[in-house]
Amino acid sequence: MRIGQVELLIGDSREVIKSLPAQSVQCCVTSPPYWGLRDYDHPEQIGTEHSPESYVEHLVEIFREVHRVLRKDGTLWLNVGDGYARNGGTGNCGPNAVVGNTKKLIQKRNCKVPKVWGLKDRDLMGLPWRVAFALQSDGWILRSRITWIKKAPMPESVKNRPTNATEEIFLMAKGIDYYYDSNAVRETSGANLRNYWLIGPDAKGKGHPAAFPRELARRCILLGSREDDTVLDPFGGSGTTGVVAQQLGRKAILVELNPDYSTIFKKRMLHESQKAFGF
Ligand SMILES: C[S@@+](CC[C@H](N)C(=O)[O-])C[C@H]1O[C@@H](n2cnc3c(N)ncnc32)[C@H](O)[C@@H]1O
Repeated sequence: MRIGQVELLIGDSREVIKSLPAQSVQCCVTSPPYWGLRDYDHPEQIGTEHSPESYVEHLVEIFREVHRVLRKDGTLWLNVGDGYARNGGTGNCGPNAVVGNTKKLIQKRNCKVPKVWGLKDRDLMGLPWRVAFALQSDGWILRSRITWIKKAPMPESVKNRPTNATEEIFLMAKGIDYYYDSNAVRETSGANLRNYWLIGPDAKGKGHPAAFPRELARRCILLGSREDDTVLDPFGGSGTTGVVAQQLGRKAILVELNPDYSTIFKKRMLHESQKAFGF
């Protein structure tokens, strides 16, 4: 499905990205499913692997293809969340337990602490960094860790640790001469942008359980691409990356496994065009 300058390809990123031409994309802005957190209602979904190790392997596999389709000066902006290893649990004890709209598939899966990395019950798994290091070993240059500070974090009923209110966004480059427009987004003082971003949720929900805020996508797209460049999101969801790319005069390719989300994408894109053309 194509709307305006944004193309949505329905399928598994592991396969779909292989069909895209090499060096055709300037930057990739994305947020994959977090391991063991939500159920996106599809047997091929990333995030429901039995072990977090195979989750990391699947992401490396997908981003290897992203590396191929990026231009030589291209970048990857990757938002990944963490989670807790749990034995049993009622869902009140951490982000990797039963929260939000998590469905049965995940609830069952998360009942045992995975036998990797010496994990123990209630260990924070450090998944964002494990993914980042695995990508680094696979050839990516890890250039920045940006901390997304959430203005409205999800409440947690924990009493033995602080509430989680941050997530990581990694800036990774294909080569050392990568495109980065340091003037596109600056601090209000005019200084170079810092690596902590205070961003709240969008005012309206989008009908998708895990959409990221437009402002997050906006910053990554502005810093990592020029007008008319192509931006890729291999985990398109409700299409935030595509909606923002179009607003900023970029093209976009989104890949999404679950066809149900294409309805939300369509609605959002049509709403954007109506706003842009004033009808
Ligand atoms: C965290 S959400 C992305 C949300 C998106 N950033 C937004 O703002 O709407 C992750 C998405 O990845 C999709 N997904 C999971 N496994 C996939 C796969 N193998 N290939 C493509 N998409 C996949 C899920 O269905 C889900 O919509």
